[in-house]
Amino acid sequence: MAKVPANMSVAAPKAHKGVGMEGFVAKWYARQTAHDRDEFKSTARRLAAHVSAGSRVLEVAPGPGFLAIELVKLTGCRMVGLDVSRTFVRIASENARKAGLRIDFEEGDAADLPFPAQQFDFIVCRAAFKNFTRPLEALDEMHRVLKVGGVALIIDLRKDFSQQAVKDYVKGRGALSGAIIKLTFNTMLKKRAYTKEGMAALVSQSQFRQGDIRLDPLGFEVWLRK
Ligand SMILES: C[S@@+](CC[C@H](N)C(=O)[O-])C[C@H]1O[C@@H](n2cnc3c(N)ncnc32)[C@H](O)[C@@H]1O
Repeated sequence: MAKVPANMSVAAPKAHKGVGMEGFVAKWYARQTAHDRDEFKSTARRLAAHVSAGSRVLEVAPGPGFLAIELVKLTGCRMVGLDVSRTFVRIASENARKAGLRIDFEEGDAADLPFPAQQFDFIVCRAAFKNFTRPLEALDEMHRVLKVGGVALIIDLRKDFSQQAVKDYVKGRGALSGAIIKLTFNTMLKKRAYTKEGMAALVSQSQFRQGDIRLDPLGFEVWLRK
């Protein structure tokens, strides 16, 4: 292998596809998803079946932290969030503080989790997995930090989503935001998103080996057990 000269630095590989979500992009996204409180609440209610007050829970790529906040409100679990965006770590920490909750939001890469092995009872990752540049490593890292018997859940957009599903999703968001979201879904996100088959192939190569993939009109959930 060629040696890197001592005076040359090697750039770390980029953790996310595209430009990443910092500054005004993160602030815009936080404002948009603040309208999705009911969806975060209902997801948290479903996750609560797997989480108790004593559970250690990790949210990978929590963005503004709304799901983590709803899950802690419901269960009192011990929650950590890890996101590559410095802006989102700041926004999520502030949102948790305003809600009067203690949640530790940290900066880091899903493919290189800064936690010892077998720490968490439950892991969730929503609307983010398709953006990871090292998805297999991210799955293996989730496996490593899960306790034996622990569960990881990935929720994301499916590549073959229907136009009707997107129309339903943007309903009530205003013309401009609706148009921006539709455009983003149909271009950048569609390109990055996984099909059920693509996701199954990735899972089969990971330490999890298998998972239960459930489809809905807009996305999928992958349930993984260690
Ligand atoms: C569309 S946002 C989703 C945020 C939140 N999970 C939600 O449901 O609203 C995608 C998130 O993935 C984060 N992200 C992208 N690549 C990442 C990586 N490699 N490691 C950790 N976070 C990452 C972004 O910073 C952003 O917070």
